[in-house]
Amino acid sequence: MITSKNFWTFAVSFLVALLISACSHSPTHVTSNTPEAVFTVQAEGQRAMVRVVTRAAACPDIAWDGKAPQRMRQRAAPATPRVRQDSGQADNKAAVFDVLTCEAAWAQGVAYAEVAGHRLSAPASEIRRIVIVADTGCRMKASENAFQDCNDAAKWPFAQIAQSAAALKPDLVIHIGDMHYRESPCPTSNAGCAKAEWGYGFDAWQADFFKPARPLLGAAPWVFVRGNHESCFRAGQGWFRFFDAQAWSEARSCNDAINDTDADYTEPYALPIAKDTQLVIFDSSKTSGKAFAQADPAYGKYVAQLKQVEQLTQQKPSSFFLSHHPLLAFAPAASAEQIKSGGNAGLVSVFGTLHPQRLFPTGVSVAMHGHVHLFQAISFQSDHPTSLIMGNSGSANEGFAPKNVPTGSVAIQHAVIADYASRSDYGFATLDRVGSTTQSDWLLTEYSTKGVPVIQCKLTGAKSLCVKV
Ligand SMILES: [Fe+2]
Repeated sequence: MITSKNFWTFAVSFLVALLISACSHSPTHVTSNTPEAVFTVQAEGQRAMVRVVTRAAACPDIAWDGKAPQRMRQRAAPATPRVRQDSGQADNKAAVFDVLTCEAAWAQGVAYAEVAGHRLSAPASEIRRIVIVADTGCRMKASENAFQDCNDAAKWPFAQIAQSAAALKPDLVIHIGDMHYRESPCPTSNAGCAKAEWGYGFDAWQADFFKPARPLLGAAPWVFVRGNHESCFRAGQGWFRFFDAQAWSEARSCNDAINDTDADYTEPYALPIAKDTQLVIFDSSKTSGKAFAQADPAYGKYVAQLKQVEQLTQQKPSSFFLSHHPLLAFAPAASAEQIKSGGNAGLVSVFGTLHPQRLFPTGVSVAMHGHVHLFQAISFQSDHPTSLIMGNSGSANEGFAPKNVPTGSVAIQHAVIADYASRSDYGFATLDRVGSTTQSDWLLTEYSTKGVPVIQCKLTGAKSLCVKV
């Protein structure tokens, strides 16, 4: 029997439920014209371009400085390339790119661009702050039975890192490679990565990079350095569609392995970050963990490209050399007390032949890398550039960096340690220009995932000195 009291209790509960429901289902206007990603790629010199990744049937219009919109150019059409047969993983499927990649070049003197509801600022005329991340994806790799908890933001913290880094308002963002880690399906019994997208198609790229990177993606232009995960037999197709700084073509797509001999070795380039300082970008994606035989075609490729680097270093007094793989680094170890020499043997065999003492051309004052999922800053008494390893931005840690390395010790190659700092937790870094207008000094800060500074290193010429904050 419905009493008057029961009726009013029911009526009030119904209204409250209706209100809660209305509030929690506020309409989201997601249409096929809402782009999946809008960002700027910084290429060589001053050249930069806006890229848009979209599910729309045509490229969107872009307006520069509020003027009449112009249609963006198509970079890569939607496609599902033939499955490559050389995957390193047992589970392999077609990489579905159900998106268009569009682009438009920034012109000199333009201040901002508007595209599909996004507003991007032009590349800064003066770089004061650079954010650096590397090795950001969530590892799912059956061949090593390695499955990170992609569904747990604390155990795969790239989204948090992107948010913290964006809050620091950089002028430039550098990703030093290994953006894509989702190569195998999550095992059915594993709740930590259950239902996670995998493979080399857009859905995995979106989950591993575009979605978590979103706050940082629009914050400043990006310099993308290619990692081994972006080599042609892995996630190289996405690399060329979305991030490579040159034009996309079938020959530069990783779609057909016959083109890998060129597509896996994109040419080095340089871009200025100050009057006296430039970045030199080197594609080491296909290097080997073993020294190259001189008859190996890869050896010849890398020798030629290192000679190009030498030429590029003539352009500025100081060059920061960026390759995904480090040369002067410590490898992760089972405990922080162990000192285990690291560095990529393939690159060392090339660089050590052309530069037996220093490994790098004389103009290189700082070498910046990822690949090792740790933070290390190493300065040398010997004539070597400061070596920075910053591969701790999200992908599963693989061990500990040595806590202490004695000053004066010869721990990597024949380089003599002067100053050493390390961190084995997740994080990211910034480089702030602190020098005079004629000579740039830089302050490197290593942050926790939440954006709390933990280590600071002053970079002066080829030397660095770090302190805990
Ligand atoms: Fe790597």
